[in-house]
Amino acid sequence: MKVLIVGKGGREHAIAWKVKESDLVKEVFIVPGNVGMENLGTLVDISEEEIEELADFAEENNIDLTIIGPESVLALGVTNEFEKRGLKIFAPTKEAAKIESSKEFAKELMKKYGVPTGAYETFTNLDLAVKYVKEKGAPIVIKEDGLKAGKGVTVAFSIPEAVEALEIAFSIPNNKVVIEEYLDGFEFSIIALTNGETVIPLEIAQDHKRAYENDKGPNTGGMGVYSPVDKIDSNIVDETLEKILKPMAKGMKKDGIPFKGFLFGGIMLTKDGVKTIEFNARFGDPEAEGILPRLKSDFVKAILDLMEGKDVELEWDNRYTVAVVMASENYPKSLTIGSEIEIPKDLKSMVFHMGTKRNYEKIETNGGRVLSVVAYGDTLEKAKENAYTDVNKIKCKKLFFRNDIGSKMCYNNENK
Ligand code: AMP
Ligand code: GLY
Repeated sequence: MKVLIVGKGGREHAIAWKVKESDLVKEVFIVPGNVGMENLGTLVDISEEEIEELADFAEENNIDLTIIGPESVLALGVTNEFEKRGLKIFAPTKEAAKIESSKEFAKELMKKYGVPTGAYETFTNLDLAVKYVKEKGAPIVIKEDGLKAGKGVTVAFSIPEAVEALEIAFSIPNNKVVIEEYLDGFEFSIIALTNGETVIPLEIAQDHKRAYENDKGPNTGGMGVYSPVDKIDSNIVDETLEKILKPMAKGMKKDGIPFKGFLFGGIMLTKDGVKTIEFNARFGDPEAEGILPRLKSDFVKAILDLMEGKDVELEWDNRYTVAVVMASENYPKSLTIGSEIEIPKDLKSMVFHMGTKRNYEKIETNGGRVLSVVAYGDTLEKAKENAYTDVNKIKCKKLFFRNDIGSKMCYNNENK
């Protein structure tokens, strides 16, 4: 069969690599793809956001299955367009993808279906927002509504910090802000495959959202993950499924907006149990790079079986993975691109490209997050050691990375 993958980052590179392994797959097409994916399939020069062109391509080339990476493409309604034309796609409609693109929409659904999450209020006015923050006190969390690639969130530990975040948010006309209770605990990512009814969790990963070591600096899209996460045992996974993912899927179906695709929960394990930080409507990045190398089952078969309502059992590699993100200096504040990268050929790790471009024979940086270097290990320590050994062999003057991916087993204030 022929599979089309849409996107150009590390997540899509990992998805394409896994799809290519499937015995069912003869040909892989990637729109637009990146340098790292050149050997995995045919890179197609269409803008990923041209959804009608994407559907034309799928029709003309008899694509059997399309998998979408980025949330921005989902929000444009790619699934609506594909389904209108009877094309098979594993991704949510734009209505269902709103669980990511609108924090307010996600919060309302959670409230309606009793899914645990922090208390919140929505504001469209700076003075009222500042008053609320002063009443509630710090720490408190300020989230701009809309798609912000993980960057529109400020976890404020003081009132002046919260007020500053609000002033910045409301300097944008018509902005809407969700102010949320600070959740203290251990954060993890759970991604499930769902057909709108059955929810199949993948293995757990823990992301490292802050730019610098010891969780300092601004929030980013994620600077590295490890998987599995020992602290999140099967009881906690079950609790997350029963209290969060399944009620959400069931509720969305009931409301006529069934969610098909990768349902991603950012979850906080608090002293009162699991609570939802956010939902995403897609696979995580770099979660995909950490999780998919651990999946032993045929990924494409799992997706097809699930879409056809058949039973799916996934088999996992027991080894740990550590994925270290190498990002351009100044990420996420500003973007420097065009710096040459030398990746030795003999690395043991897998190198997934997040933001690179080809300049004749050379590879150059072309984004905020540039590479995701993923290694296995029989222990977390060993996976870490293997990943960092290779990270240190990659030469580029303009890249930085966190040295503590997989080292810090807690987030927020717990155990600090
Ligand atoms: P989000 O984009 O909603 O995932 O937020 C980015 C990051 O901010 C999360 O991964 C958490 O580390 C942190 N965060 C968001 N909301 C909260 C909250 N209510 N309490 C504590 N930390 C949060
Ligand atoms: N790494 C978190 C995300 O993909 O949103």
